[in-house]
Amino acid sequence: MKIQIPHCTIRSLKKSDAKSIAKYADNIHIWNNVRDMFPYPYKLEDAEKFIEFSLSQNPICNFAIEVKGEAVGVIGIVLNSDIHRVSAEIGYWIGESFWGKGIMSAAVTAFVDYAFQTYEIHRIFAGVFSFNIASAKVLEKAGFVHECTHKEAIIKNGEIGDELIYAKLSSRRFSEI
Ligand SMILES: CC(C)(COP(=O)(O)OP(=O)(O)OC[C@H]1O[C@@H](n2cnc3c(N)ncnc32)[C@H](O)[C@@H]1OP(=O)(O)O)[C@@H](O)C(=O)NCCC(=O)NCCS
Repeated sequence: MKIQIPHCTIRSLKKSDAKSIAKYADNIHIWNNVRDMFPYPYKLEDAEKFIEFSLSQNPICNFAIEVKGEAVGVIGIVLNSDIHRVSAEIGYWIGESFWGKGIMSAAVTAFVDYAFQTYEIHRIFAGVFSFNIASAKVLEKAGFVHECTHKEAIIKNGEIGDELIYAKLSSRRFSEI
């Protein structure tokens, strides 16, 4: 898989990405905005395990964000099951030195188009910590709608907070999924 967009390429993960993924993921400013299951400190073994898991998926749902030949972030979806199988949750992060350059807004926009064409899904959603303004903006720029706020739904760094629920629906009609 390879999607070329102006400031980056979204492409399949490779085992050789582990070093750069670990380098950029090992950052408290990233961890503060993601789930606690995301490792911190983020070691080389964590990147190796993540890449191994991602390459074993069928279908593959996690991809590298490459800038200047280096994997500097990850974008992916988690496919839901049973009656929620038409829905998938999107997740993404990018190394701090690349923040604020419009990379993720472009990446999410392109990846969501790819995902609707590739997987048998109709809805892509995200849960964003209410203090994560950058991520909320990324989703809005990619055409997601703020559906609701789950009040006091999360705990991060010992503080209870609100979770913003964003979603984008496919314009494609489908008969059966
Ligand atoms: C959230 C994240 C993916 C945004 O990526 P990015 O490539 O910096 O996003 P963009 O450059 O496309 O910026 C999107 C918008 O957010 C704004 N923005 C970027 N960083 C910001 C910050 N720290 N505070 C406030 N706004 C910010 C940008 O100015 C832009 O808004 P604009 O178009 O109105 O100028 C990145 O900061 C990140 O990886 N954060 C840690 C992990 C994370 O939060 N993942 C998502 C969990 S839901």
